[in-house]
Amino acid sequence: MKFLLAIVLCGVVVLGTFPLSSDAQASQLDPSFYRDTCPTVHSIVRDVLRNVSKTDPRILASLMRVHFHDCFVQGCDASILLNDTATIVSEQGAAPNNNSIRGLNVVNDIKTAVEAACPNTVSCADILALAAEIASVLGGGPDWKVPLGRRDSLTANRTLANQNLPAAFFTLPQLTTAFANQGLNITDLVTLSGAHTFGRAQCQFFFARLYNFNGTGNPDPTLDSSYRQILQSQCPIDGSKNTSVVNLDLTTPDTVDNKYYSNLQAQKGLLQSDQELFSTPNASTTAIVNNFSANQTLFFEAFKASMIKMGNIGVLTGTNGEIRKQCNFVNSNSMGLANVASNKESFSEDGIVSSY
Ligand code: HEM
Ligand SMILES: *[C@@H]1O[C@H](CO)[C@@H](O)[C@H](O)[C@H]1NC(C)=O
Ligand SMILES: *[C@@H]1O[C@H](CO)[C@@H](O)[C@H](O)[C@H]1NC(C)=O
Ligand SMILES: *[C@@H]1O[C@H](CO)[C@@H](O)[C@H](O)[C@H]1NC(C)=O
Ligand SMILES: *[C@@H]1O[C@H](CO)[C@@H](O)[C@H](O)[C@H]1NC(C)=O
Ligand SMILES: *[C@@H]1O[C@H](CO)[C@@H](O)[C@H](O)[C@H]1NC(C)=O
Ligand SMILES: *[C@@H]1O[C@H](CO)[C@@H](O)[C@H](O)[C@H]1NC(C)=O
Ligand SMILES: *[C@@H]1O[C@H](CO)[C@@H](O)[C@H](O)[C@H]1NC(C)=O
Ligand SMILES: *[C@@H]1O[C@H](CO)[C@@H](O)[C@H](O)[C@H]1NC(C)=O
Ligand SMILES: *[C@@H]1O[C@H](CO)[C@@H](O)[C@H](O)[C@H]1NC(C)=O
Ligand SMILES: *[C@@H]1O[C@H](CO)[C@@H](O)[C@H](O)[C@H]1NC(C)=O
Repeated sequence: MKFLLAIVLCGVVVLGTFPLSSDAQASQLDPSFYRDTCPTVHSIVRDVLRNVSKTDPRILASLMRVHFHDCFVQGCDASILLNDTATIVSEQGAAPNNNSIRGLNVVNDIKTAVEAACPNTVSCADILALAAEIASVLGGGPDWKVPLGRRDSLTANRTLANQNLPAAFFTLPQLTTAFANQGLNITDLVTLSGAHTFGRAQCQFFFARLYNFNGTGNPDPTLDSSYRQILQSQCPIDGSKNTSVVNLDLTTPDTVDNKYYSNLQAQKGLLQSDQELFSTPNASTTAIVNNFSANQTLFFEAFKASMIKMGNIGVLTGTNGEIRKQCNFVNSNSMGLANVASNKESFSEDGIVSSY
């Protein structure tokens, strides 16, 4: 009897503190989360992505970026996918996303394919995490076991997207702070910036480096001059709003490898935020760049670890959030699609308590 009472009291303490610990939340994710309920989810996502990437190789990079822009704003909860409605101010309208984020239609195609196989089971947030890993693999990079079990948010926050997402013209201290705010350190910063090993960037995001860096009237001195001349021909001086795109990695534009880091050593990083990692005087990030440039295996190992770490940020699990039926809308407002089979009620409080 005394023993039972101790367990009950203990349970109260655990329940009272659990939601405060992000580690506890993250540890609730599990790579085998859908083993019984949707064993084919990984191959479904992979098949759609493989198909689309045949005609649009950039889609791999675009979807990896969507996952990043999701995780940095109230956690990896698919909040970025929510469209404008009467109650939602979409994060898609935030400055770092507007006219920039790509691939949301492909996310919807993936979701449709997944729903056909496993209705009401797989969250949009998990689809983004899976798509990022599959993008790495299809791009020639590492694979990893993606921790799963995220649930989708009921809210979005454009203000937070504007605050939390780093900008291309950030200095190293600003980048460090933006990542530290998400629990990511400078190793994670250098490692995850390596995602710029593929994909494209619009002229507007590095234009100032070519012509008038930081108000100096001169180009960025840390930008290789022959590379600068190529970029100047791709982004003419009268085109500061030019939306045409340039490869982020001039060496291997569509491949996930460590060439991004040797580009930085050659002063051929495209964005200021890239080059800062190597060229900031006396910064500890320079040695990390040198390490990754020298050893691709080391980079790949670090990339797996940092992607998993990023994928754990602020996740919703258990009875929090919901499994959206359509990724652009919460179930209570999904344009008639909502057969809101009360995901919440099916996990009753009794169920949770009895599982302890
Ligand atoms: C370190 C701070 C970062 C900054 C300042 C930054 C900024 C940018 C910018 C300005 C673009 C070009 C967008 C456009 O032209 O529309 C871009 C593209 C991209 N970013 Fe980042 N980024 C950062 C970190 C990351 C991270 C952590 C990831 C993923 C792990 C990532 C993945 C990508 C990818 C894959 C693209 C290409 C997307 C495409 O081609 O559609 N970035 N980034
Ligand atoms: C991929 O494309 C092939 C041929 O175009 C098609 O038969 C198949 O259904 C597609 N698969 C997916 C998952 O979209
Ligand atoms: C969501 O909004 C995007 C524009 O941000 C639009 O292209 C898309 O069609 C919308 N999705 C739905 C299902 O209405
Ligand atoms: C997004 O960009 C479009 C086109 O430039 C612009 O009309 C719109 O106002 C922007 N959205 C927001 C929320 O700023
Ligand atoms: C959005 O985030 C901002 C900045 O952290 C916060 O002040 C605000 O309360 C949030 N808004 C909503 C609707 O959650
Ligand atoms: C960053 O965090 C990882 C663990 O997530 C740790 O292994 C690494 O040593 C840390 N790096 C720095 C520079 O603190
Ligand atoms: C840009 O100029 C400001 C001062 O005007 C300086 O504090 C900052 O470090 C400069 N940034 C770079 C990257 O040189
Ligand atoms: C943008 O740059 C391209 C060259 O990359 C050029 O063909 C195009 O005319 C420019 N557009 C504007 C609006 O300046
Ligand atoms: C970098 O370190 C060297 C030697 O420790 C020092 O002389 C120099 O002032 C430092 N530069 C900056 C920008 O901190
Ligand atoms: C670089 O790699 C070496 C050997 O793997 C390691 O001892 C060192 O700590 C690394 N330095 C940084 C800054 O990552
Ligand atoms: C590269 O890094 C891997 C992973 O840390 C390590 O096992 C290997 O010994 C390194 N290779 C070299 C040549 O240093």
